[in-house]
Amino acid sequence: MKVFVTRPLVGDALERLAAHHDVHVWDHPLPPPRDVLLEEAATADALIVTVSDRVDDVLLATAARLTAVSTYAVGFENIDVRAATSRRIAVGNTPDVLTDATAQFALALTLDMVRRVNESARHVRAGRWDTWQPSGYLGRVFGDVTVGIIGWGKIGRAYGALVEALGMTVLHTGSHSFDQVLERADVVSLHVPLTEGTRSLIDSRAFSLLRPGAFIVNTSRGQVVDTPALLDALDHGTLAGAALDVTDPEPLPPDHPLLGRDDVLVTPHIASATDRSRAAMADRAVDNILKALAGLPMEHCVNPDVYRARD
Ligand code: DGY
Repeated sequence: MKVFVTRPLVGDALERLAAHHDVHVWDHPLPPPRDVLLEEAATADALIVTVSDRVDDVLLATAARLTAVSTYAVGFENIDVRAATSRRIAVGNTPDVLTDATAQFALALTLDMVRRVNESARHVRAGRWDTWQPSGYLGRVFGDVTVGIIGWGKIGRAYGALVEALGMTVLHTGSHSFDQVLERADVVSLHVPLTEGTRSLIDSRAFSLLRPGAFIVNTSRGQVVDTPALLDALDHGTLAGAALDVTDPEPLPPDHPLLGRDDVLVTPHIASATDRSRAAMADRAVDNILKALAGLPMEHCVNPDVYRARD
C-alpha cells in the first residue's frame, strides 16, 4: 500500500515501513507545497505528516483510499480529526516519547530567562558590553523563583519536577486556578495543547494579572499566546521577557517585531528535538501506520471512535 511521508524522519523507522509498503518520502528541506500534498494524498492509503502540514477536510475529501494518518508529533491540531472520524480515517500521534525532551527544553528556556543568558549574549555580540558592572544583568537565584505551570499534563508535570528539583517553587493549574497561577508566578510556562479553548489563552487580561518582572516560556503552540498582546505587555513592562519555542505566525517573518527585541528569545520549534526522542517519535508514527494498514487499531490513536464506528 502507498504511504506518503511529508519529511525524512530521524532513525531507521521508515526502513521498517518500506519493508511492508510502498513508501514515498518528500525529501526536501521545506514541507511539501499544498498542491503536492493534495496530489500525493489522493493516491495514498496512509500519510505520515508533521506539524507543518494541514490535513483538513478538503484534503480528506480527495483522498479516496486513505485509511490512516499519523502525525510525527504529540499535538494534532493541524489535522481535522472530526472530519477524519466521519470518514473512518484513523488518526495517530506520538505521545510520551518526547515528554522529557520537551520538559528539559522548557527548563533550558526558563534558566535563560532567570539568568538573562540570551539577553546579555546579544549585547556582547552587538558590542554593547564595555565593562563589568556590579549591577549588570542581575538575575534570580532558583530558590527565589516561583514557576507557574499552565497545563498539568505529562509535559507540564515533567517540567514541574525538573524546576522543583532545582529549588524553584511550583504552582500549577492542576491545583490552582488559572488566575492564581498567573498572579503568583515569576515564570509562567505553557504546557497546554492548542484547542478552541486554549487559542489566545494568554491575552491582554492574562498579561495584566502577572507580577512585575514576570517572564513567559512557551513550548506548546504559538497560538496559545495572543502575539499583539504579548508585544504590548513587553512594551509596557508588564512582562520582563519571553522565551518562545513556538510563535504565531510560525515561522516569524525576518522583520517581525518579536525578533528585534533583547527581551525575547525565539527558538525554531525544537523542544522535542533530541536524537533519541525524534527517533522514538518516528518509531511511534510508523507503528501507528503499520497497525492501521494491517487492519488493527493504532496504539496511539486520537480518534478511537473510528474503531467503534467500524464495529
Ligand atoms: C509536538 O510533538 O507536538 C511538537 O510540537 C513537535 O514535536
